[in-house]
Amino acid sequence: MFRRGMPVFLLFLMAALSGCSGIDVLDPKGPAAREEFGLFQLTIYLMLLVLATVFILFFYFLWKYRITPERKNHIPNGPSGNKKLEITWTVIPIVILIIIAIPTVKSTYHLSEAADAKHLQGKTVIEVTAHQFWWEFHYLDGDIKTSDVLHIPTGEDVVLVIRSDDTIHSLWVPQLGGKMDAVPGKTNRLWVKADEPGSYEGKCAELCGAAHAYMLFTVKAESKQDFQKWKQAMQKKESGKQKTESAAAGEKVFKKNCLSCHAVNGSGETISRGNAPNLTGFAEHDRIASVLPNTKENIVKWINDPKKYKPGTEMPSFKHLSAKEKEELAEYVQSLGLDGISGEGDGGHGS
Ligand code: CUA
Repeated sequence: MFRRGMPVFLLFLMAALSGCSGIDVLDPKGPAAREEFGLFQLTIYLMLLVLATVFILFFYFLWKYRITPERKNHIPNGPSGNKKLEITWTVIPIVILIIIAIPTVKSTYHLSEAADAKHLQGKTVIEVTAHQFWWEFHYLDGDIKTSDVLHIPTGEDVVLVIRSDDTIHSLWVPQLGGKMDAVPGKTNRLWVKADEPGSYEGKCAELCGAAHAYMLFTVKAESKQDFQKWKQAMQKKESGKQKTESAAAGEKVFKKNCLSCHAVNGSGETISRGNAPNLTGFAEHDRIASVLPNTKENIVKWINDPKKYKPGTEMPSFKHLSAKEKEELAEYVQSLGLDGISGEGDGGHGS
């Protein structure tokens, strides 16, 4: 029974941990994540050792003390009072705990030091604000805001300065640097670093409300040059691209209906308005509000009924707009691309 159930249980565990949801938990792609993964491996191996020992002893005793015709009424002596045995099974767990504790404490100090406020020089510092139910990323140098997509340069130390706008959330991007809570009224820091360019999926890891499961984000790690190019493109106040006629009409609809909450470069001097994502560069996003693939039809669906796709979102329905206005609006937000970085691949990893 036990032996038959074990492989099923392990398969389930592997499926759960290997990232059915697009999140790779056991595939670190940076030094911070690798350090945490090392601790995870150490504890898993030790746990397996304990598990194997217990199982072997269990089946050994089952066999050794089985009922035979000669021993039908025989009750073996218990080990009570056996000092040697008692000391052995007290000392072994202590030794195991010490083996786990030494690297854990060392890593805890190393990881928090890497994100320490005193050692931020030469690092890319990005402010993160968790909202119900989206992530805001603020690049202090350059005054850029993005939502649900975090661009970072590869091979560089990045420190995320994490806050919350409402309740407790937790930023989790296992491939680059673990997990850190976003707590209202408190500032936490997390060190992340990517070895190579690619897209890495992250999510909120603290139950924070109705759309907690949809509070996803993507980290796009790029070469230093691509990262600089992206930053420059994001800083442009006005896109040089010629808008199509319906995108231009959509811009008017946007200014009348959406601009009170959503900022867009070129539509105002501020990078945030209300409690809603800045939509600059929206065309480059893979998903709408991190729940729907970024297509024109889906934008119309989203405008019609955001709560259907993301329960608990603060965005109201704009069903009352005419079908034509919604189409134009979708055309406009899809025109919010970035000059100078078009045709750039995003790695397509897990998205
Ligand atoms: Cu935010 Cu869960």
